[in-house]
Amino acid sequence: MREDIKEVLISEEQIQEKVKELGKALTEEYDDKFPLVIGVLKGSLPFMADLIKNIDTHIELDLMDVSSYGNDMVSSGEVKIVKDLNTSVEGRDVLILEDIIDSGLTLSYLVNLLQYRKAKSVKVVTLLDKPEGRKVDLVPDLAGFVVPDEFVVGYGLDYAEKYRNLPYVGILKPEVYQG
Ligand code: PRP
Ligand code: MN
Ligand code: MG
Repeated sequence: MREDIKEVLISEEQIQEKVKELGKALTEEYDDKFPLVIGVLKGSLPFMADLIKNIDTHIELDLMDVSSYGNDMVSSGEVKIVKDLNTSVEGRDVLILEDIIDSGLTLSYLVNLLQYRKAKSVKVVTLLDKPEGRKVDLVPDLAGFVVPDEFVVGYGLDYAEKYRNLPYVGILKPEVYQG
């Protein structure tokens, strides 16, 4: 698996340090608010698992699966709810966790949906932000790292469902996806 990686972009240590920093900021922001923390499957899972352990106030967890990429390298632009929330967001402070914001289509769809469902507030924290990929205006409330317009994998991010279990974020060798 690791031989498919051209370059480690963000190391395991850098991620763990950032996750502590973000956890601290979120602890202050959401102290006594009992936010509903929503992980977007499947990419946000490693980030979610690490981040929530650094939030030192009560939170509730839920998961949602909205997929737009399938096995393609670029977004189809069509967002599909694969698994909806189990919890009502009405009147709740909601925090959405993402591994990456690229075109912004997934999150703008989700933010709109949760606002329509009458969440009290909707904020977004992403580990990675790829501003060059944006097709819609979407700025995360918190972001770990800004990444260049390259195909990155690892720490939740996949190529054809692989590489999610890498502990770091890396750039894939072009020959891997060029066949
Ligand atoms: C990826 C990624 C984000 C989204 C970002 O998810 O995890 O959720 O795409 O892209 P966007 O800003 O262009 O919408 P994907 O739909 O591939 O599902 P996955 O998390 O299961 O891999
Ligand atoms: Mn995703
Ligand atoms: Mg994907």
